[in-house]
Amino acid sequence: MKVLYASSEARPFAASGGLADVAGSLPKALRNRLVGCRVVLPLYESVPAELRDTMTFLTSFSVPVAWRRQYCGVFEAKHNGVIYYLLDNQYYFKRCGLYGHYDDAERFAFFSRAVLEMLKYIDFKPDVIHANDWQCGLIPVYHTLFYAPQPPYSSIRTVYTIHNIQYQGKYGMEILEDVFGISHEDAHLLEHDGCVNIMKGAIETADRVTTVSPTYAKEILDPWFSHELDPILRMREWKLSGILNGIDTISYDPATDKALYANYTADDFSAKAVNKKALQERLNLPQRADVPLIGMVSRLVAHKGFDLVQYIMERLLQEDVQVVILGSGEWVYESFFREMAERYPQKFSYCSGFVPELAQKIYAASDLFLMPSKSEPCGLSQMVACRYGAVPIVRETGGLKDSIHDCGDGAGNGFTFQSYNADDMYGAILRGLGAYHNKEHWPLLVERAMRSDFSWGRSANEYIRLYKSL
Ligand code: GLC
Repeated sequence: MKVLYASSEARPFAASGGLADVAGSLPKALRNRLVGCRVVLPLYESVPAELRDTMTFLTSFSVPVAWRRQYCGVFEAKHNGVIYYLLDNQYYFKRCGLYGHYDDAERFAFFSRAVLEMLKYIDFKPDVIHANDWQCGLIPVYHTLFYAPQPPYSSIRTVYTIHNIQYQGKYGMEILEDVFGISHEDAHLLEHDGCVNIMKGAIETADRVTTVSPTYAKEILDPWFSHELDPILRMREWKLSGILNGIDTISYDPATDKALYANYTADDFSAKAVNKKALQERLNLPQRADVPLIGMVSRLVAHKGFDLVQYIMERLLQEDVQVVILGSGEWVYESFFREMAERYPQKFSYCSGFVPELAQKIYAASDLFLMPSKSEPCGLSQMVACRYGAVPIVRETGGLKDSIHDCGDGAGNGFTFQSYNADDMYGAILRGLGAYHNKEHWPLLVERAMRSDFSWGRSANEYIRLYKSL
């Protein structure tokens, strides 16, 4: 079984979100189970120099992008035993950042077409191409329209994974022929609500569609979650399934993480106290071991639940508690948290930005970790928080629901609430704070959270079963 995993980002080469973690860890898990999995991604300007130094040039060819023909170079790199192909075209990818350019549709149409063309020139013939998110959504579309009729493409099957249905790749209809090179006779494959919708095209043409948790696979059939794609998904429900992401348990390990002030394990996590004290010192919070510390590491956007947090913040800070938030995003939340940090310097610290080293320290120092997302396809932070012994408080949605179970029954690994409602969330926070003060039971809960199994094992096997079924 050979799989080509196509992604617009993959750690450690290029990362902007959770997709990079998946593309950086699932292929290794597949390989460990004897599935030949290679990854293909664009060679962005931001690929770190030390990784560039390890790449070797394989070949080059030209790629049709509608009426244009564009150069594509193929570089190969090996990371953690997995082969990564990095596709080079400086016109499209020598830019700042990964996305957000006026011609993203063309950049990723080029990439998608190049992934398929590349197979004529390299010695890797996959049985399955696994494409991810809207940026790779044209791969199954192009495969169906232009490649499937000819060998060796006819034996290739395609899997498409939705990591977040909010980002669909929507453009004006004029792009269809001029940029994608797709004729109007085939417009029905991509057209949705009067626009070109790349995700819709992928759902229509891929052999199987997956998303990153079983609960999200059900949720996106409902208009509340689907960002208008539910009618399409309901029609194609037979090919849709949800497989929960795992995390790279070697990178996210408090026993070896170099970013921590002190390392620890689930057998002995007394050094969490060292991390807490050092973080309190760094953030100018009172150095107290006995106060519960609630951490949040997230982009500050409404769908991560920050409107709920804003609503109860003042009330929460009346409690004997410390709260640390790391992340940047919408101005309303940034300015609100700055103001709260000025008013409650003894209890609250807000750090803006994306700072992985500080994020790891927050996971290690926190007693509780808050993640009240409105929707969360899978989520990574709640799993990392568990591993680092910060007991999650989450809303029961998507992957949060599938990975965190309320400890009310004596077996769970966190605190959960159902409705997207600030008072319900506050109730769960108060339960968490109450549990923290139960000296007998709290360490047992922390240990249970730390021992939750978020390794890729089970999910990698589910992907393998899916590939084999094709
Ligand atoms: C997206 C989703 C997130 C998921 C990640 C990896 O970023 O928003 O929930 O964990 O993809 O699948």
